[in-house]
Amino acid sequence: MGIKIKSRTLREISSISEMKDISQSLRKQNLTIGFVPTMGCLHAGHLNLVKRSLETCDRTVVSIFINPTQFGSNEDLDTYPRQLESDIEKLETIGADILFHPTKEEMYPPGYKTSVEVQNITEQLCGKSRPDLFDGVSTVVLKLFNIVRPHNAYFGEKDWQQLAVIETLVEDLNLDVAIIRVPIVREADGLAMSSRNRYLSPQERQSALSLSRSLQQARDNIRRGTTSAKAISDSIRQCLSEQEGTEIDYISVCDPESFKEKEQIRGRTLIALAVKVGPSRLIDNCIIEEF
Ligand code: PAJ
Repeated sequence: MGIKIKSRTLREISSISEMKDISQSLRKQNLTIGFVPTMGCLHAGHLNLVKRSLETCDRTVVSIFINPTQFGSNEDLDTYPRQLESDIEKLETIGADILFHPTKEEMYPPGYKTSVEVQNITEQLCGKSRPDLFDGVSTVVLKLFNIVRPHNAYFGEKDWQQLAVIETLVEDLNLDVAIIRVPIVREADGLAMSSRNRYLSPQERQSALSLSRSLQQARDNIRRGTTSAKAISDSIRQCLSEQEGTEIDYISVCDPESFKEKEQIRGRTLIALAVKVGPSRLIDNCIIEEF
């Protein structure tokens, strides 16, 4: 009757050694650990990952850590939204078991020297315009996996290239964790949910709708028979440029695994966009299945 009953209370942990001890003890009890790494400012896209973990795993750990190594020097690390109190409320309501929120000093103490690099698939799309991004992501995700030791880890397809990088990391380094892909969660009007949406003015939010709209238009054109990748990216460019305050970073029509650009839309194809709208750099994508 509208009353949400929490089965367990959320346990907040910031110490790495405490988190490791808990994971070890859960594993000893043969309990499965589901893990959702985030940078906080949680929205329904994040919470859907948590829900997926709660459905399948005995215990769900969510991390909130704004990872400095994945931000370039001219990017939005300092202004990235922080709202721990309301994140905690959301995690309590949904029934997550553990919130792991380490400090920057504990994750990267003075003298820290190591970085992990996945090659080849990190040079295109977001890796091209944000050269620090994927080494930072791979490094922090590997560290988090070593600390939390999850059986399953949940990632959103909104960050399609990030998912491919993490799957490669897991395969190449023989990590013992199953990566679970979760589809993009959108607002009712189609805008892909993002922590960075909160910076948009009403006018910018309107312009931001052109990302999902242009992808939908591309899908329709492909269904009607367009096979030229250039024709598709030109029509997306036109749709995005018509909006006020948009600055296109990239439009890519490519292979969803290698990220090699395609000339013809044959076989499974990824259409991915990054667009700066006002202060926020937004990304979105869609998959064209083989037809
Ligand atoms: P963050 O941007 O907070 O995203 C955390 C997870 O939520 C990622 O797996 C992301 O793909 C997923 N996500 C975000 N918006 C989504 C949406 N609208 N639909 C579905 N999934 C969505 O991605 C990161 O943090 C960081 O790079 C991290 C992996 C935590 C490493 O620092």
